[in-house]
Amino acid sequence: MNVFFVTAIFLLTSTAGDFGAKWDHFTFTQEWPQTACLMGKAEGKKCYIPNFINSFIIHGLWPSAGSKEGPKNCSSVQFDMNKIKNLTDELLNAWPNIYSSTGRNDFWKHEWDTHGTCALSLNTTGTEYLFFRKTLDLMKIYNASRYLSKMNITPNDTTPYVTKTVQSVLQRKLGVMPNLQCYRSKLGYLLAEIRICMDKQFKLIECPTGELTLYWKRRAETEPCRGGKIYFPEIKRN
Ligand SMILES: *[C@@H]1O[C@H](CO)[C@@H](O)[C@H](O)[C@H]1NC(C)=O
Ligand SMILES: *[C@@H]1O[C@H](CO)[C@@H](O)[C@H](O)[C@H]1NC(C)=O
Ligand SMILES: *[C@@H]1O[C@H](CO)[C@@H](O)[C@H](O)[C@H]1NC(C)=O
Ligand SMILES: *[C@@H]1O[C@H](CO)[C@@H](O)[C@H](O)[C@H]1NC(C)=O
Ligand SMILES: *[C@@H]1O[C@H](CO)[C@@H](O)[C@H](O)[C@H]1NC(C)=O
Repeated sequence: MNVFFVTAIFLLTSTAGDFGAKWDHFTFTQEWPQTACLMGKAEGKKCYIPNFINSFIIHGLWPSAGSKEGPKNCSSVQFDMNKIKNLTDELLNAWPNIYSSTGRNDFWKHEWDTHGTCALSLNTTGTEYLFFRKTLDLMKIYNASRYLSKMNITPNDTTPYVTKTVQSVLQRKLGVMPNLQCYRSKLGYLLAEIRICMDKQFKLIECPTGELTLYWKRRAETEPCRGGKIYFPEIKRN
């Protein structure tokens, strides 16, 4: 009896507001374009990294639920490029679509449909414009390339880095442990993503443990950077 009662209350509260979406923090994810290219190519996607891209780029800002994947496709509020037109230059620099067989706006549309629509319940991300504006602002603050290059951790095809060194450099800058994701290639583990967790007020928090292999069903897989050493591949343009 009690169990039913508690479940009923839980269901009621969890569907109130929030457009039914249940989540408790954000995962802010930056990706290394060269590794994203290699992963895309492994799935037959064309990839092109423009000349002006030499650093980490945004993958997305994902409403997340504990150590589980967060909600997706939360509302039918359609992506409208007009609403973020005045962010276009910034988006092209910080959040480009490097999969060249798809349209320029497709990555933004995908991230909006899948994740942005789940963040509508917050003031700070309550419109398409605010969601993209906020994500761009986070990238300016938590730019992983800036942190790493200051510590001379730069792309290098021949010499891998000690994973713990990369982690602790970022941890020292952030105050929380980032979640490093790698792509396992023939060469070894390649640095693919840096994920940072934050609460709904955008205060950095430790990522709930277990949140390590999410969101990668659509591409070649990433996994936590294991094996002690990781490559940080140099960007190739072709
Ligand atoms: C979200 O929508 C996209 C396309 O609109 C679809 O491909 C995807 O499977 C949906 N995901 C979920 C979890 O419903
Ligand atoms: C950019 O566009 C958004 C929404 O269309 C608007 O709210 C915002 O004020 C604009 N910002 C600037 C600097 O023009
Ligand atoms: C969110 O918006 C509401 C209504 O505009 C306002 O009352 C509230 O103070 C805002 N909260 C924050 C955290 O900005
Ligand atoms: C991140 O930092 C790098 C290196 O300082 C810089 O080249 C790049 O433009 C920055 N990215 C963004 C989105 O600010
Ligand atoms: C890679 O690291 C090695 C050893 O530290 C160094 O000699 C080489 O110049 C580096 N290559 C690049 C592209 O930085």
